[in-house]
Amino acid sequence: MNIDALILAAGKGTRMPSPRPKVLQTLLGETMLALVTSTLAAMPRVGRILTLVGNEADMVSAEAARTAERLGIASSCIRQEKQLGTGHALMTAMPGLGGDGCVLVVNGDAPLVTPEVLNHFLDAAEGADAAFLSLELEDAAAYGRVVRREGKVSAIVEARDFDPALYGPLEDAHEVNTGIYLFSLPAARRLLPRLTCDNRGGEYYITDLVALGLAEGMDVRGIRAEGAGCEKTALLGVNTPVELAAAEEILTKRRADELLASGVVLHAPSLVRVSPLSRVEKGVEIFGPCEIYGDSEIKSGARILSHCVLRDARIDGGTEIREFCHIEKAEVKSGALIGPYARLRPQAFVDENAHVGNFVELKKTRLGKGSKANHLTYLGDAEVGPGVNFGAGTITCNYDGKNKFRTVIGEGCFIGSNTALVAPVTVGDNALVGAGSVIVEDVPAGKLALGRGRQVIKERRK
Ligand code: UD1
Ligand code: CA
Repeated sequence: MNIDALILAAGKGTRMPSPRPKVLQTLLGETMLALVTSTLAAMPRVGRILTLVGNEADMVSAEAARTAERLGIASSCIRQEKQLGTGHALMTAMPGLGGDGCVLVVNGDAPLVTPEVLNHFLDAAEGADAAFLSLELEDAAAYGRVVRREGKVSAIVEARDFDPALYGPLEDAHEVNTGIYLFSLPAARRLLPRLTCDNRGGEYYITDLVALGLAEGMDVRGIRAEGAGCEKTALLGVNTPVELAAAEEILTKRRADELLASGVVLHAPSLVRVSPLSRVEKGVEIFGPCEIYGDSEIKSGARILSHCVLRDARIDGGTEIREFCHIEKAEVKSGALIGPYARLRPQAFVDENAHVGNFVELKKTRLGKGSKANHLTYLGDAEVGPGVNFGAGTITCNYDGKNKFRTVIGEGCFIGSNTALVAPVTVGDNALVGAGSVIVEDVPAGKLALGRGRQVIKERRK
């Protein structure tokens, strides 16, 4: 079966008051769109992944492209200029879905969906003209309700269109539509032109295709998620801040359980927040509270102590990241010690066995093997060789108000406390810079540089 996937992500999300479109709201640092896309990308039987964008189309397309690049897949977006409903969304996407295969349609606001759930659904939907996945919910709130007659699906009815005279009390209707569908493309082509927006929402509902298909005598299946190892919570839609918070909690727990089961040691696991897209190897030890986001990669044997925030960080084994560190787009090699209270900004590279201590900030800087910057130091746009020691309060003055300049420090140097290195400047191998210096000229290898006022001793006034 040739299956393409379509993510519906064009809606406004009026129940989520935020300047960002709803599918760009995040859970564990990942947008709902990235989470849904990565789930689909993990399913071998899904071919192309298309994203339907409309509201804030540029922002959403940019996120789709960024996600595709991260996952190493092709992505393409289709524009729905006016958001006339989920049925109209599918109509808009049809020209991009050529062929006689199938389309797996998923709402972009179902960030907890897993490959297991979708695989169960696709297995049960095999060969159908149309199918959707349903779920029993105690409090079914605003979900569309599945109406059955003698166990057989007859329609999906939106909560606001639900007529108790026809279907019985709404409170008793617990089977809901999850917003996951499979349509054979020939069936969709036949049914879509018959959709109308004659309902309370004034929209074209994708859900009306169910009754339309049945009226045509098509094979339409309502597949229940229950009893197939599907977590119910995997199917919850996110429409409001309350639902977003609940979904994020579920995802945090799911991710922590997964890490524990794979052999990662977590202390206070409920406070360890790890993006589903970050890779943490077994044998890593993490102390909560701690946050690891983006495309971070933590290798076996690393220890991450509490209150750290890592984003797109690469941490080797044999390292220790002590409490209260911030690491973003930076790399730490084996044996290095970071923190407490250190900040590694983009393109910081801390080589083997180097130390970065409290209140030290590195940006676009390579700190050589075994080098140490232990206290109150800023190293920006710098290349530091191995075995260098920085005294407390060293600063690379890399910015003159207009441009950035580099500082190069050779191996084995000793930079005295409270030194300002005014870039561009080079300090040769094994040079020594006296404490309190302002270094504005290159220091030759093996020399001592002093750039400070000479101390004078005078008599005190009586
Ligand atoms: C929809 C279903 C409902 C189901 C629920 C599950 C319909 C009519 N109803 O309701 O039966 O129980 O999902 O969560 O489909 N979108 C577009 N273009 C549009 C409109 C929406 O791309 O013109 C996208 C939205 O961005 C969203 C998804 O479709 O990701 C679902 O839309 P939403 O308005 O959230 O539908 P619900 O009212 O939740
Ligand atoms: Ca929704």
